[in-house]
Amino acid sequence: MKYRPLLKLKKGMILGQDVLNGSGKVLMKEHRILDEEAIRNLEEWGFPGVYIDDSFTESIEIDTVIRPQIQAEALKLISNMYTTPQDKIVEKEKDKTVEEEEKRIRDMVQDIVGDITSDGDVMYNLLNLKNYDEYVYYHTLYVTMMSVHIGIRLGLSRDELNDLATAGLLHDIGRKFVDGHLQELKRPLAPEEMREIRRHVEEGTEFVGSNFHFSKDVVKAIQDHHENFDGTGYPNRLKGDKISIYARILHVADVYDALITKKPYRSEFRPADAMEYLMASDGQEFDPDIIQLFVDWVAVYPVGSEVRLSNGQTAIVEENYPHFPLRPRVRVVETGEEMDLRSDMSALSVVIVEMVKGDLFSSEMHDF
Ligand SMILES: [Fe+2]
Repeated sequence: MKYRPLLKLKKGMILGQDVLNGSGKVLMKEHRILDEEAIRNLEEWGFPGVYIDDSFTESIEIDTVIRPQIQAEALKLISNMYTTPQDKIVEKEKDKTVEEEEKRIRDMVQDIVGDITSDGDVMYNLLNLKNYDEYVYYHTLYVTMMSVHIGIRLGLSRDELNDLATAGLLHDIGRKFVDGHLQELKRPLAPEEMREIRRHVEEGTEFVGSNFHFSKDVVKAIQDHHENFDGTGYPNRLKGDKISIYARILHVADVYDALITKKPYRSEFRPADAMEYLMASDGQEFDPDIIQLFVDWVAVYPVGSEVRLSNGQTAIVEENYPHFPLRPRVRVVETGEEMDLRSDMSALSVVIVEMVKGDLFSSEMHDF
C-alpha cells in the first residue's frame, strides 16, 4: 500500500483502506476502484489523500496503530461526546447518560491503550487521513493515539497510560460550550474570536471535573493542555514541571497533528516540516524531553509515503527505524530496488530531500 495525495489520484487506482467520516461511518470501502466521481467526492469531503493498493507496494503494510474497528468505534464515541447537547453540570440522579458515557470512555481507553501497548517497539507511522469538516473528531483520536505511543516510551504505567488516553479523548470537550460557529469558520481567527475559543479549556476542565469520576490527573491534564513550557501558555501561564506531564505530551501531539492537517484556508505541513517546527520551539512551547521522544518515535516519512531522494530518484518508504527518523528503508520507484538508508554502504550519500506532495507547501502557522 502507498499513500497518494489527492491531486495525484488517477482513475483506475484501487483504494487500500476504508475511508471513514468523522463519526466512524464508512464513506468508501477498501478495494474500490476509483473513478472520476469517487475522486471528486474525496476532494469534496476534504481528504488530503488516501492509501492505494498496487502491485509495486503490495508487500508494504500500513500499521493502523489500533484495529480499524476500534478506530471506527472511537470516532463514533468522540463525535457523540462532542455533539450531544449537555448541560455543563448534570444532575446525576436525573441523568444516567453521564454515567453511561463514563463507562463507554473507560472501555474505549482500555481498547486503545491495549492495542498500542501490544504493538511493541515500533515507530508511529500514521499519515493523516482526516477530512476538514469533521476534523476535530479525527484530531482527538490521533492526538490520543500519538500521546499514548509517546507515554509508553516515557515509561508510564498502564494506569498512567489510561489516564493519559482519557485526557486525550476529553482534552477539547470544552469546545461544546463555546460559540459553535467560530469553530466552523474556514479562515484564521481574529483575536477576540481566539479569546472565545480559548475558553474551551476552562469549560472542559469544569465539565469533566464536576460530572465524571476520572482521576484528578485527568482533569489537570485537560486544564494544562495549552500551557507552554516557558510559561507563555494559557490559562494559568504555568511553567516547566508545574504543567501536568500528560498535558506536556498532549500539547506536542495536539500542535503536531494540527500542523499536518489540511485546513480549508491552508494546506497541510509535511510531517518533516511539522517536526522542524516542534524542534524549533522546544524549551519554549514544548518540553524538550517530550520533543526528543517525538523525534525518535514518530515517523516523519511514514510507511507508504513517496519521497524524493537526493540522487534524483523517487521511492516509497517501507520501514522506519526508531531513533533514525531520516534513514528509513525504501523501495526505488524507477528501478524497483530496495535501499536501506540506515545500513546500506551504497546509500550513505543518499538523503531524502522531501516527501512528494500533491499540494503547495504552506508556511502558515497553526491556529489555536
Ligand atoms: Fe484545546
